[in-house]
Amino acid sequence: MGYAEVYQAAKADPNAFWMEAAKGIDWDEPPSKALFDENAPLYEWYADGRLNGCWNAVDRHVQAGHGDRVAIIHDSPLTGTTHKITYKELQDRVASLAGALKAKGVEKGDRVIIYMPMVPEALEAMLACARLGAIHSVVFGGFAANELAVRIDDCTPKCIIAASCGIEPGRVVHYKPLLDGALALADHEPEFCVIFQREQEVAHLEEGRDVDWHAFQYGVAPAPCVPVEGNHPAYILYTSGTTGQPKGVVRHTAGHLVALNWSMRNLYDMNPGEVFWAASDVGWVVGHSYICYGPLTFGCTTVVFEGKPVGTPDAGTFWRVIEDHGVKCLFTAPTAFRAIKRDDPGGALVGDYDLSSLETLFLAGERADPDTIEWAQAQLGVPVIDHWWQTETGWAIAGNPLGIEKLPVKIGSPSVAMPGYDVQILDEGGHPLKPGTLGAIAVKLPLPPGTLPTLWQAEERYRKSYLSHFPGYYETGDAGMIDEDGYLYIMARTDDVINVAGHRLSTGGMEEVLAAHPEVAECAVIGVSDPLKGQLPMGFLCLNKGVDTPAEEIVKDCVKLVRDRIGPVAAFKLAVVVNRLPKTRSGKILRATMVKIADGEDYKMPATIDDPAILDEIAEAVKSLGYGAARG
Ligand code: COA
Ligand code: AMP
Repeated sequence: MGYAEVYQAAKADPNAFWMEAAKGIDWDEPPSKALFDENAPLYEWYADGRLNGCWNAVDRHVQAGHGDRVAIIHDSPLTGTTHKITYKELQDRVASLAGALKAKGVEKGDRVIIYMPMVPEALEAMLACARLGAIHSVVFGGFAANELAVRIDDCTPKCIIAASCGIEPGRVVHYKPLLDGALALADHEPEFCVIFQREQEVAHLEEGRDVDWHAFQYGVAPAPCVPVEGNHPAYILYTSGTTGQPKGVVRHTAGHLVALNWSMRNLYDMNPGEVFWAASDVGWVVGHSYICYGPLTFGCTTVVFEGKPVGTPDAGTFWRVIEDHGVKCLFTAPTAFRAIKRDDPGGALVGDYDLSSLETLFLAGERADPDTIEWAQAQLGVPVIDHWWQTETGWAIAGNPLGIEKLPVKIGSPSVAMPGYDVQILDEGGHPLKPGTLGAIAVKLPLPPGTLPTLWQAEERYRKSYLSHFPGYYETGDAGMIDEDGYLYIMARTDDVINVAGHRLSTGGMEEVLAAHPEVAECAVIGVSDPLKGQLPMGFLCLNKGVDTPAEEIVKDCVKLVRDRIGPVAAFKLAVVVNRLPKTRSGKILRATMVKIADGEDYKMPATIDDPAILDEIAEAVKSLGYGAARG
């Protein structure tokens, strides 16, 4: 069957299609049906089946005789080490960790926050939770203590598992002090913390609260897998919305395993035993789906890479990893390739390595610009496949399903809708638009297995954020179009979310932090185009009357404030003091016009603008930062 037939089969009979896909994973009790639509527009998949996530990702491969197969390769140019873990070793390590967590009272349904860098122990912690039916919530290391505290208060974990430190080029990230800071800020207190001590920095353990990762496993009985219902939450992953309060995306156990397992063969064209490398971070959805659960459930070898595409030590690192480990499929964000291209534009380092194992490069996380795709294709000589998805969906909404049929690549498009996704372009009134017309991208409900069923303890917010604008549809928050051949084009976000180096950030969240500065009366943060990171945040600050602190000092304070409150990952370094912000007569800040000015693009004078002269002031302000007309 080709793509069109497979897509139609899923559309015509979703139950039959997804029950067939469900045969790819192991069940303690198979579900009676795939789709549970009794509470539409809230949908669930495989709700009455019983299974275990860790069994599927680990134990079943050992049972099938593949215990000696490498499950995880940890390659860390930042520490100069490489380490391989077989499925059998992984099973022992995870069962032991789960046993220790169980001995301290962690059980099915308890939340566990994981705050760890790119080490295999991060995956082991996730899998140990899955083994017990505990719900993990991994927090990315580039967030500050305050962001961790917000997540602690939202999901109220029984336990937090953290590493003593992470390593960024040129500096150690002090995870344990960040964790202590977060616990001091949070209202909720976990019962205990497990600290994985890394040799690069051994952390102080708080008597009575913190236990050592190895020591607390001593003498405990390994834990067996606890079967859970298909709709039992496997994890909560927080993502940026329009405000500083992140959204806790819930992932149910069965749907995500079925969808990820299906995608490994049908989308990524992998076979069990082959090496898959998602160069992302366990703190992001790509890390959950394609560093941990997808490749492991399917029986592949996954690469956990602790390094950067450039500078660790050079722009040839990715090629070295591909050669050393025989990577068949690499998945990363376009920004990584832009960084490599900037350091090695002629691809001189590519020739130093044997890349014959590599068959495909998949890109996602942000718009893949044609220059980057063409450069990657020319250097690597393999198909470069853009695919589009979100934390909410957990796997691709659109892509080129190489395992089914290699569709022609159209540069600039992440190709076609994946089976189960009925993607449509809608006008403001919710009416489907003709091919080639720009509009809001929505997916007709129900979404396929693996996608979010709700937000953690925030069903109303889930309905309001995703389901209410276009009844009967899931609103993606992206705008774009579909061409005559059904190829999608993703143009921009329709909300206050920006994308910085493949990291999703909320400008609204940054504005909340800036507004808390005692001398800032009003502010706006926009996303400006950046040749490396795709977008960068830029802040405009209006000060209170009578403030005589020099503007540079306030800007410096504000940059520090965002770094301290949100984290270095916000990459907030551009800010400027202005007298006023451009607004409509009804008081709405004209952010879209400000973006055009900062990007040096032509713009139409908004008809509703309060005072057009302010736009000249904004143009001057962005020029002082080296943007706008100054760029041209
Ligand atoms: N823990 C702590 N700090 C982190 C971090 C982590 N896991 N990840 C990033 N940071 C810090 C960086 O050190 C940097 O700090 P600095 O301001 O002190 O330099 C800051 O957050 C911004 O990071 P980033 O935007 O990633 O920029 P960079 O200059 O460090 O690297 C790239 C630029 C392009 C090389 C890098 O962004 C990259 O490899 N991107 C790949 C994208 C990716 O993996 N996306 C995930 C979704 S698929
Ligand atoms: P995240 O939830 O962090 O994965 O971010 C999801 C958002 O990133 C999407 O809503 C898009 O705005 C953007 N995005 C992800 N993949 C792509 C892609 N292939 N092309 C364009 N934008 C993308």
